[in-house]
Amino acid sequence: TTVPERPSEEHVALVSALPCCTIAGMSNMKLCCYQGFWLPEGLVPPAAALQRRFEPRPSDVIVASLPKCGTTWLVALAFATLARRAHPPGAGDHPLRRLNPHQCLPFLEGLFISGLEGKLDALPSPRLMNTHMPLAMIPGAVPADGAGGGCRVVYICREPKDMVVSLWHYFRRVYPDLEFSEVFDIACDGTMPWGPFWDHILGYWRASVARPENVLFLRYEELLRDPAENVRRLARFVGLPFSAAEEEDGVVRGIVELCSLDSLRGMEVNKAGYVDTRIKFPREALFRKGVAGDWKSHMTPEMACRMDDIVADKLRGTGLAF
Ligand code: A3P
Repeated sequence: TTVPERPSEEHVALVSALPCCTIAGMSNMKLCCYQGFWLPEGLVPPAAALQRRFEPRPSDVIVASLPKCGTTWLVALAFATLARRAHPPGAGDHPLRRLNPHQCLPFLEGLFISGLEGKLDALPSPRLMNTHMPLAMIPGAVPADGAGGGCRVVYICREPKDMVVSLWHYFRRVYPDLEFSEVFDIACDGTMPWGPFWDHILGYWRASVARPENVLFLRYEELLRDPAENVRRLARFVGLPFSAAEEEDGVVRGIVELCSLDSLRGMEVNKAGYVDTRIKFPREALFRKGVAGDWKSHMTPEMACRMDDIVADKLRGTGLAF
């Protein structure tokens, strides 16, 4: 995640008008509530610029998620799938063997940091990008019902209790004293980064129901259960289904293996360096356990119950459940 190093005048003016908070135990993580979502302060001006200037192309593919829901995995799978003709998954010089998955495609909001927008326009089609922004902040990606156009968005969500556990482990790499209960509380009260998580998920969920041709809604747990079938869904969705010859050649299996947790974790490039320039989360922290149900070893039954109740309440009547 790239955030600007120095605040611009626009930044100061925009942010000073918003409710902001700092997560206890994470002194340099300031969040501001922008259009109903708690964004890291440095991403508020890019969020505003994105809404003013982003012009989706019909061929664009945007991988969207909340942090810790399988972003890196989906980014790797999407990149490997879209680029498979130029870079067969078995190739020794495949970009995913020398680059972190996040270096293989641009972070959409990162490109709206002042001065970088030109890069997005200069990218050849089809553009593959990723974002943590709520769908409502990417105007035009999914047009209103009945209208044509837009682009393709692939969203990945995760069982919220596991997401919170993953988030805590990740934050702890930089803030070792951070208590699990602090991260749990900000998830429950909606003030986690890019939260409230239920509004983030529901924005994409509702769009996937109304416009399935624009939004593919995936679950981390489904990917764990059957990665190959989900890679096929992804390929069909972006208009690049695997041919019979590719199936026979094991291309799907090759992509799944290349992007597996063990494979990515084992790459030298993912064992060193940082995810971002400011807070310096180590890249290797992106690859931890990769299982469903890890919440059981971190939450009391009361905590699990509290979170389940919040989720059930917020998702009631939406057709989505965890
Ligand atoms: P855990 O912390 O539960 O292990 P994100 O990429 O959105 O930050 O999500 C990180 C989570 O995805 C971590 O979960 C991480 O271990 C898991 N993950 C990363 N790469 C993966 C892969 N290739 N396969 C399965 N899970 C992966």
